[in-house]
Amino acid sequence: MSVPLLQVDSLEVTYAGRRRSAAHRALDGVSIELHRGETLGIVGESGSGKSTLGNSVLGLTPILGGRITFDGQDITRSRGRARRVLSRRMQAIFQDPYSSLNPHRTVGQSITETLEGTGVADRDERRRRAMTMLANVGLDESSYDRFPGQFSGGQRQRISIARAMLPEPELVICDEVVSALDLSVQAQVMNLLADLQRERSLSYLFITHDLSVVKHLCQRVIVLRGGRIVEQGTTMQVLEDPQTAYTKRLVLAAPVLDPKRQRERRIERIGAVTTNFPTQRGA
Ligand SMILES: Nc1ncnc2c1ncn2[C@@H]1O[C@H](COP(=O)(O)OP(=O)(O)OP(=O)(O)O)[C@@H](O)[C@H]1O
Ligand SMILES: [Mg+2]
Repeated sequence: MSVPLLQVDSLEVTYAGRRRSAAHRALDGVSIELHRGETLGIVGESGSGKSTLGNSVLGLTPILGGRITFDGQDITRSRGRARRVLSRRMQAIFQDPYSSLNPHRTVGQSITETLEGTGVADRDERRRRAMTMLANVGLDESSYDRFPGQFSGGQRQRISIARAMLPEPELVICDEVVSALDLSVQAQVMNLLADLQRERSLSYLFITHDLSVVKHLCQRVIVLRGGRIVEQGTTMQVLEDPQTAYTKRLVLAAPVLDPKRQRERRIERIGAVTTNFPTQRGA
């Protein structure tokens, strides 16, 4: 097989403890491989180390041990200029587009930022590319001169996607990108990500606590618990035949669109119906 686009070997990340409390090991010997054009899901309960893994790849977290390789190049401790060069090839989209988009800057100003240093010096050319990209993510060209506050959550996430895609990255780290959206908007954003991936042969590291979204996008899934990999396999294997009680719980906790099936799964998960809510007639 070809060299993986991203390879993480035995990654160790420790956060310093507050005051005199012990340091906290957020990742402990995590190894992953991501190939070109592939989507790898990273799932696990809150605090299991998912975001720490993405942030390590992005150079946002100090690394204690192990190695991260991007397209064959060691980037474990890459900083400064080397990191800036890398940032054109590697972009990120986060859960809350409002915090990553400056509310005082127009959408155009925010999204063309990622083109800085890419050699597209001409302002008109940047504008033209940004306009095309806005259209690609399903937004009106007039969005360019508007402010993030004038958009819905789903539209703001489309703006973040346009911003990330503009420098034509090879890898996009998606950290809980649909978690704050309604189910119907989630589906639209996931379809958009899938379309962009097909057009550009992109790779996604797709971080989510919600296993129902993994099914639509990921070929393989890694399950994290307490900073360690407890299970991994194809999406089908992990979702249909989870091997650990922990993964089984995660699978059962994932929302399903059918309320009847949702209720059955709640019973499977907790053994009995404990809510006092009236059941919907015909549900
Ligand atoms: N900057 C930090 N300083 C100290 N501890 C941190 C820091 N960031 C994360 N942690 C701790 O590291 C562990 C892993 O956190 P991380 O954010 O990677 O989890 P996560 O799987 O992304 O969780 P969630 O689903 O809630 O986003 C947690 O125990 C968290 O409290
Ligand atoms: Mg997280």
